Amino acid sequence: MGETSYGKILISEEQIRNRIKELGAQITKDYEDKKLLLVGILNGCVYFMTDLSREIDKLLQIDFMVVSSYGSSTSTSGVVKIIKDLNRSIEGFDVLIIEDIVDTGLTLSYIKEVLEARKPNSVKICTLVNKIGRRKVDIDVDYVGFEIPDEFIIGYGMDYAEKYRNLKDVLIIRPELI
Ligand code: PRP
Repeated sequence: MGETSYGKILISEEQIRNRIKELGAQITKDYEDKKLLLVGILNGCVYFMTDLSREIDKLLQIDFMVVSSYGSSTSTSGVVKIIKDLNRSIEGFDVLIIEDIVDTGLTLSYIKEVLEARKPNSVKICTLVNKIGRRKVDIDVDYVGFEIPDEFIIGYGMDYAEKYRNLKDVLIIRPELI
């Protein structure tokens, strides 16, 4: 594993790019006849959303939500609040929620329930990384880029105290930086 000044590389830029191509091809196929709406959960999703959406070879629409769960701490409060909602009705759309990480699952189980109540055709979840070992609630994650161990990670959208999101690789943060 490569070492950088911010930590060890867990998933390299190249691995991310290759996996996103695969996910994009799979989603293109699965949503061939569907009215696809990608819903990104800000802020962590931004890099994944822009890269993945361009690997999906079909007409689609994008929208974003902002929710608060963690604040600047590293452990979940269990409280999810919608700070910015979608700008449209999702009735009849096939919604694919785009996340950087699913950890306890609390955020996604709440958002999925909220969106399902709005009568879309379907709601599925796509995450770049999945920390299955940290689940507090059972939730189906339909598309997973990478299964990862329970390490504190940064980069490619993921932050520590709002920093390091723009790193190109996913890193295990150096303990001295916490
Ligand atoms: C992260 C991530 C998910 C949530 C997942 O967001 O983007 O929304 O945590 O954690 P959970 O499965 O334990 O609920 P965060 O609150 O860190 O905000 P950010 O996207 O702005 O980084």
